[in-house]
Amino acid sequence: MRLDEAERRLETNPNQNMFLYEWLGENLEAKYLDKYDYIILDCRPDFGIATRNAIAVSHTLFSSITPSDFAFEAKENLEIRLEQYRKTEIVRPSRDSLITAQLYFLPNMIKHNTMKSKELLIALKNDASVIGQIPQKELFNRATKNDTVIDMMTKFSLNDEHRSFFSILSDTLNQLQKVTDNS
Ligand SMILES: Nc1ncnc2c1ncn2[C@@H]1O[C@H](COP(=O)(O)OP(=O)(O)OP(=O)(O)O)[C@@H](O)[C@H]1O
Ligand SMILES: [Mg+2]
Repeated sequence: MRLDEAERRLETNPNQNMFLYEWLGENLEAKYLDKYDYIILDCRPDFGIATRNAIAVSHTLFSSITPSDFAFEAKENLEIRLEQYRKTEIVRPSRDSLITAQLYFLPNMIKHNTMKSKELLIALKNDASVIGQIPQKELFNRATKNDTVIDMMTKFSLNDEHRSFFSILSDTLNQLQKVTDNS
């Protein structure tokens, strides 16, 4: 399926944001989707129709935050847009929002030796919406579909060579799983 075409078709649909929500409700069992513990929807970093549909069916949102001058602006922007979105999809008469997803930020491409990374981590230290961190690591550029960083983690020699990286990564993944399980 071409996502851009699907989005274009939904542009004139009055229920454009909740299309996937309703489809899932109708097809969850027929498509055997209820056998999965988790469903991960990888989105573009935008707030378009496809992303709004993904948010509507999600319990947890993870947005990466990378060290840069615009990191806080991007974080705040997403927080504001999500709160606005919550207000647009409500059920009456209770006015409860259908958009119940919890938003978390995941610091990514963290370098241990740069001011920008250090400043970012310090500024986010007491922010409960920030989960773990993923270091900047060359292994990501070596990864392929058949040999992902998670596959590499299971190989003893690689794991041993990059022990502190894999330790931070697995700690972060455990934290992601924990907040997901609790939401
Ligand atoms: N922690 C990291 N350390 C090193 N490289 C990274 C890290 N995170 C991401 N990258 C690199 O940045 C590039 C983009 O990463 P990724 O595909 O996750 O981003 P994206 O925004 O989802 O892009 P896409 O448009 O492909 O979906 C990749 O080449 C990846 O190897
Ligand atoms: Mg991507």
